[in-house]
Amino acid sequence: MAGVTVVRHPLVQHKLSLLRDRTRSTSGFRRLVRELAMLLAYEVTRELPMTTMPVETPLETMDAPMIEGKKLVLAPILRAGLALAEGMLELIPSARVAHVGLYRDHDTLEAVEYFFKAPTDLQDRLVIVTDPMLATGNSAIAALERLKARGAHDLRFVCLLAAPEGVAALREAHPDVPIFTAALDRALNDKGYILPGLGDAGDRIYGTR
Ligand code: URA
Repeated sequence: MAGVTVVRHPLVQHKLSLLRDRTRSTSGFRRLVRELAMLLAYEVTRELPMTTMPVETPLETMDAPMIEGKKLVLAPILRAGLALAEGMLELIPSARVAHVGLYRDHDTLEAVEYFFKAPTDLQDRLVIVTDPMLATGNSAIAALERLKARGAHDLRFVCLLAAPEGVAALREAHPDVPIFTAALDRALNDKGYILPGLGDAGDRIYGTR
């Protein structure tokens, strides 16, 4: 599917299966999300533009490859997106963070914003939006609209699971934003949960149910 990368690496698929298991403890769930976040960070940054910088080794000076441009921005959609962003920060510790506070109204399934704080120069940076679940797509679409309104134009969206409905909605609303996911699941149920899915990601990460 154009614009959608399903990361099929065996480690990603194995860890995702462990994550889906309803008996997984909160600490185990959290650790797996962090590990998956690192593996997804590796994929989503694969094509970053490179430059070279002179580096003095103990033996001589060389032109060493370095990532070009300003530090990238991780933009977690609160609250579940935080766990993905924190895992990615372990691999990209100098990244900036834009917090996008959105909750899903359980009746309408619409995204409601309650917090937004981002670096001021989003127009100069790659922005990676994180949310474990791409379900209806409403939160992702709203977050991307908000970030674009603040100048971001080089954006990627990273999730653990995507429903076909969410992928279609997000691709239609933001065709310029590539999606990276560990799996494309079957469908949404009538409450907007992904099937087979892994349940409520936020509740499972933070042990709130
Ligand atoms: N959000 C979740 O946490 N889980 C789903 O299945 C869908 C949206």
